This record gives sequence, structure tokens and C-alpha cells, in this order.
Amino acid sequence: MIKTVILAAGEGTRMKSEKSKVLHKILNKTILSYIIDAVNFGDDSEIIIVAGKNYYDLKNMYPEMIIKKQEIGKNIPYGTGYATSLCIDEIKGGDTVLVLNGDIPLIKKESISEFLRKHKENDDDGSVLSVKIKDPSGYGRIVRKNNEFVKIIEEKDADENQRKIDEINSGIYAFKGKELKDSLKKLNSKNKSKELYLTDCIGILNSEGKKVNAFENKNYKEFFGINNKYELSFANEIMRERVNEKYMIEGVIIENPSITTIQPGVKIGNDTEISGCVSILGNTTIGKNCIIKGSCRIENSQIGDNVIIDNSIIEESKIENGVDIGPFSHLRPNAMLKENVHIGNFVEVKNSTVGEKTKAGHLAYIGDSDIGKNVNIGCGVIFVNYDGTFKHRSIVKDNAFIGSNSNIVAPVTIENEGYIAAGSTITENVAKGELSIERSKQINKPGYVEKKKIRDEKLKEEK
Ligand code: UD1
Ligand code: CA
Repeated sequence: MIKTVILAAGEGTRMKSEKSKVLHKILNKTILSYIIDAVNFGDDSEIIIVAGKNYYDLKNMYPEMIIKKQEIGKNIPYGTGYATSLCIDEIKGGDTVLVLNGDIPLIKKESISEFLRKHKENDDDGSVLSVKIKDPSGYGRIVRKNNEFVKIIEEKDADENQRKIDEINSGIYAFKGKELKDSLKKLNSKNKSKELYLTDCIGILNSEGKKVNAFENKNYKEFFGINNKYELSFANEIMRERVNEKYMIEGVIIENPSITTIQPGVKIGNDTEISGCVSILGNTTIGKNCIIKGSCRIENSQIGDNVIIDNSIIEESKIENGVDIGPFSHLRPNAMLKENVHIGNFVEVKNSTVGEKTKAGHLAYIGDSDIGKNVNIGCGVIFVNYDGTFKHRSIVKDNAFIGSNSNIVAPVTIENEGYIAAGSTITENVAKGELSIERSKQINKPGYVEKKKIRDEKLKEEK
């Protein structure tokens, strides 16, 4: 059985954050989730995560996994070796144990599988995945003697010559269960960091005549470890490029990939065109031939074909084919727009269904309402849904006309072809085909301005 240990308990001090390092996000997904995706080997495998201050978060996020808690504090050992040792009881002698740092989100499943295959083919007791990089500073170095792998030396403990080694430890290891358990017991903290290093297990096995290997992977970009927020942003860029490339190869047009963020897992149809500063996040599906332009955030939403979205925010909403949204619209949770709806400038829609071909072109709030087909919602219309204590719904049926600057005070129903005069505050139901005007009658006073001028002049003279 393959037992995968993911080390995620580190203090992450270099991140300078309240939040655990592995829960920081890349393209809106946690660092840790990328690692879990890459080591999902199916039935004959099990994942064990070593957690620290993120223990309860991880337990909630991954209830099906084994989560070990590493206590951190004075007089308690620390280090990757100590963290791994907390999993000893879960590991059997005959298991193959894959150990990974929790901070290397760019790794690909194929690379891990290839590494495990080499480890098994060589019948190694312990293997390390290594890479050669231009600037190896910060990483543990792969020490070889006559080309044979001997040990890993941490940068802090390395001498001048060892620091020049450009082959580094990626933080991915494979062990025979028994050898890992035995060597972990022999670790000590006689090093600059006074930590128990997992990396020392390799040196221990080698010194006992066991078989160890470092297998180099040429795709160094995959093994980039994140220790601070600059590196987080760097990894984000690499992942963005990788993910966007995949969408483009699959038929999506992305005009400027460097400012387009698509969370892995989002589905986008062919010939959909994305330009501008667009983020498409969460569980989102977008159909074919859509245009998404300007500055947009689309999150957890289902969007049909031929939809146009311009400079707008869409959250937890459902949008059917041919809908046109924006610029500057906000669809909040549970907005359901049927085919060919038009939602225009500065319109907010929340928890409402809007029927086919209905139009709300400018400056409106549509909240907690059910609106039929072909309804015209004028400029400045407000669905007044809150009485200070409770929210209520309003219903507007097909072909109704809501004049500009009207208030629809819920709960109220406007029947088919109901016609609301501009500026009305509607608190009573409106029957089919009725005109409803709720405003005071206009009075025009001829000659008023001239009279006012004369009066004002007189007042000035008197002062
Ligand atoms: C580690 C390796 C180094 C390697 C590098 C690759 C050691 C001693 N060094 O260094 O050789 O080149 O990764 O990126 O392993 N963690 C725990 N508990 C702890 C300490 C750490 O769970 O007590 C976890 C961290 O959350 C992290 C991982 O282990 O996910 C690695 O720890 P980190 O401190 O980042 O190690 P590096 O200094 O990067
Ligand atoms: Ca690290």
C-alpha cells in the first residue's frame, strides 16, 4: 500500500501571516489542495496529513483523511523528521511511503508517479526527487561522492563547497516503510536549526549500507517551494500560465492571459472570449461563444451560451443563453436570468428570477422578486424588499411595464401587462392591464418666475 505523508504543520514564519502557509491560495485554491490532487493514487493508497495550528481547519476540510496533530512549543521537538515520526503508527513495514512537503503546489501527478516507479524499480530503501536550479539558495543540497548519492545537507549546515552544489532536494521522498520507521528513530537535532531533519534519514540509511538514490527531474519549475509571499505570487504566475494554456489549447480565447485568473476545475466552452482583468472562480461553468470583457469576477455560477458579460460581478447565479450583462452590474447569490435577458448599467440583482427577454437597462435594484417575460424595468426602479425586520418577495408578471424611478414595496403582485407610471411607490397589487399612478398631481403656474424676480428685487431694496 502507498502511504502518503504530507507535512503541513510548519510554523511558516517566513509567510508572516496568521494563516497557515499551506492554506494560502493559488488561483483561489489552497496550496495543500494542489498537493492532494497530485498524490491521489486511488484505492491502494492513503493520505496522512501532519497538521499544526491548522489542525481543525484541515479536519473540517478533509474529514476522510488521517490528520495528525503536531504540537508546537518550547521543549517540544520540531522539524520535518519529527513531523514525519508522528505518522509512524499508521505505517506498516511493507508499505511504500511517499513523503512530501506541503508547500510545493506546482508538482504534477505524472512526476510523482514516475518518481515512485523509479524508487520501486531500483528497490531503493530511500529515494529523493532532486532538481538542478540556477539559484539553489535556501534548499537542502544533494551531496554525491563519485556520483553516488550520499546524503542531503541543509544550507545552514553546509560548508562553502557544498553550498555551490546546484542539485537540490525538492522535498519529495519515497521510503520502504520499515526503513523510514527505523531511521526516524535514529535522528538527532545536532544541527544549526536544532531540528529533527527528515533529510537526515537518507544519510542514516546510506551509512548503514542501505540503498538510496536521488532521481533528478528536469522540470525544475514544478518543485518550487513556497516560503514567503513573494514566492507565493511567483507560484501563482506559473500556475496561471499553466492553467490558462490548458484552456486555450482546449478552445477558449484568452486575449491577455497574464491578467486572467481561472481556477482549475472551471468549465468553459469553445470560442468563449475572455479579455481584460477577469477572474473565474469556484464551481463555475461557462458555455460556448460567450464574451467576458473588462474587469469581471464570476464565482460559483452557471452561465449558458452566447452570453455577454461586461465589467460585472456574478456570484452564485444562473444565467441562460443569450443574456447580456453590464457594464457594472452585480448579480448576487441566487439571481436566475432566463434566456435573452438584458441587465445593464449599475443594476443589482439578488435572489430573483428574471424571465425571458426582460430588460433592466439602468440603475435598478431587483431583490427577492419573481419577474416574468418581456417585462420592462425602467431606470432607477427599486424592489423594496426589507421592512426593517423581514424580507418579502414581489411578483411581476409577463409584459408588465415598470416606469422609471418606481418603488415596488414587497410583498406586492403586478399582474400581466400591469403598467406602473414613473415615480410611483407601489404598495398595493396591480391587476392585469391596469395603469397604476402613485404620485401627486402636477400643477403648472404660468408666469411664476417673472413674478418671483420682481418680488425678490423688492425685498432686496427694503433690506
Ligand atoms: C525543506 C528541506 C530541504 C528542501 C526543501 C524543499 C528539511 C530539513 N529540509 O526545507 O532540504 O530543499 O524543504 O522545499 O526537510 N513542517 C512540518 N513540521 C515541522 C517543520 C516543517 O510539518 O516541524 C512542514 C512545513 O509545513 C512544510 C514542510 O514541512 O510544508 C517543509 O518545511 P520547511 O520549513 O518549509 O522546510 P524548508 O526549509 O523549505
Ligand atoms: Ca519549504
